[in-house]
Amino acid sequence: MKITISFSKATQPADLLAVGCFEGHKPSQDLSAKKFSGKYGETAYLPSISLRAGKNALLIGLGKKEKFTLDKIRCAAARAACYAKSMKVEELRFDLESFSGDFSAGEAAGAAVEGARLSNYRFDRYKSKPSPASSLTEFELYTPKTSAQSAIKKSVREAEIVSEGVYFTRDLANEPPNVMTPEKLAESARQMASKNNLSCQILGPAEIKRLKMGGILGVSQGSVNPPRFIILQNKVKSSKKPIVLVGKGITFDTGGISIKPSGDMDKMKFDMCGAAAVIGAMKVVANLKLPVKVIGLVPTCENMPSGSAQRPGDIITCLNGKTVEVLNTDAEGRLILADALAYAKRFNPRVLVDIATLTGACAATFADLASGLMSTDEDLAGRIKEAGEASGERVWELPLWDEYFDLIKATYADIQNISKKYAGTITAGMFLKEFADHTSAWAHLDIAGTAWNEGGPKPLSPIGATGIGVRLFTRLVQGYSR
Ligand code: BES
Ligand code: ZN
Ligand code: ZN
Repeated sequence: MKITISFSKATQPADLLAVGCFEGHKPSQDLSAKKFSGKYGETAYLPSISLRAGKNALLIGLGKKEKFTLDKIRCAAARAACYAKSMKVEELRFDLESFSGDFSAGEAAGAAVEGARLSNYRFDRYKSKPSPASSLTEFELYTPKTSAQSAIKKSVREAEIVSEGVYFTRDLANEPPNVMTPEKLAESARQMASKNNLSCQILGPAEIKRLKMGGILGVSQGSVNPPRFIILQNKVKSSKKPIVLVGKGITFDTGGISIKPSGDMDKMKFDMCGAAAVIGAMKVVANLKLPVKVIGLVPTCENMPSGSAQRPGDIITCLNGKTVEVLNTDAEGRLILADALAYAKRFNPRVLVDIATLTGACAATFADLASGLMSTDEDLAGRIKEAGEASGERVWELPLWDEYFDLIKATYADIQNISKKYAGTITAGMFLKEFADHTSAWAHLDIAGTAWNEGGPKPLSPIGATGIGVRLFTRLVQGYSR
């Protein structure tokens, strides 16, 4: 699918023209459809209307104008593109002005391109007969507003870069776990870095041992696929302290000796979605040439049961010297993140943010409608909330009250890796906080519910990895660029 922008009054009508309509704002005379009210999510197909810009029209309901958001533009564009595909239309013209509401033409154009691109993703490289390519070859943004030309072009270019990052993240995460091993993840990051002007350093098992990263060593000790620790950095000269992003990279989570039930265990290949988000976000940050130092850290390994696997009851010592009693080997994400968060100390971060498919409890709380946010800093939490709203990757904050620490105090070590009872998402956050205590501004994102689409209708994401985090991190870093 090619994305084009057309500013002239079109001479050739397109096969299909998508027109946005707000609720209660009657579509123009020639577009009036009897039963169409403009409610959000409603669509109406008007064949053979022979307008100047289109042979056929597709009305898309945008809901109440006061409640309009950028995400509704994204979803409207996604809906239009899907409809065009199902109708086997080759060329879709998107009447930008009708979809803009009070947003600038630039903002609306970026959102439309993101929506069309994100909905159009497919992962079918393992089908021996891939399904035939969609017939939609062109998505044309159409507007007579020549004054906004440069703003529109710039934001379309940005949306293309961001979408490419999301695609990259989805590709990493959708790979099966026999292919996407820690070694392969590190190799993918290295290749991406060399193509996108990032520096990349990869630590292997010997280095991880030398550094005494007891969390990564403990989790990976039952696996024949050895761990890696990935360090990505953009090449920006700045006197300011860096933003450090950390992503959980468990390439498969069986639970270890505290083994998970076998039904749906295949989904645990997505346990590296945090890692994939960080790697994809680094690609975007590099390609947008954001003038902020950003560092991405990814601890990656498998969590397998075997004769050499760690046991419930084991006590490990993490990179910062804190001891952890491993009461449940399935609470492994926090163990590898502990080392990575402690490792971040050497970069003296301005802010430190981790992202992880950490707790089933978070998915139980928010379903796929928000990621859990926990933070030690109000300004950082505020920026993440704003970035979440703007990008459409919403977050909701949970508290990290000191009293919660009582729930993870261990009998025989400093901390235990599971809660005594309840508050599964928050106590996981409290655990991580112990390893991020070198930085005053730290935040944790739990994406257990938002990282993949189990098959429900989601305009912006087909089944599988959603690529959550890439767009949120992009916005967050952009906020520090100004
Ligand atoms: N990767 C899982 C979290 C998860 C579970 C994500 C289900 C998405 C869906 C994590 O490693 C895990 O197993 N967490 C346990 C923690 C528990 C043992 C304290 C969980 O949430 O059950
Ligand atoms: Zn687990
Ligand atoms: Zn896990």
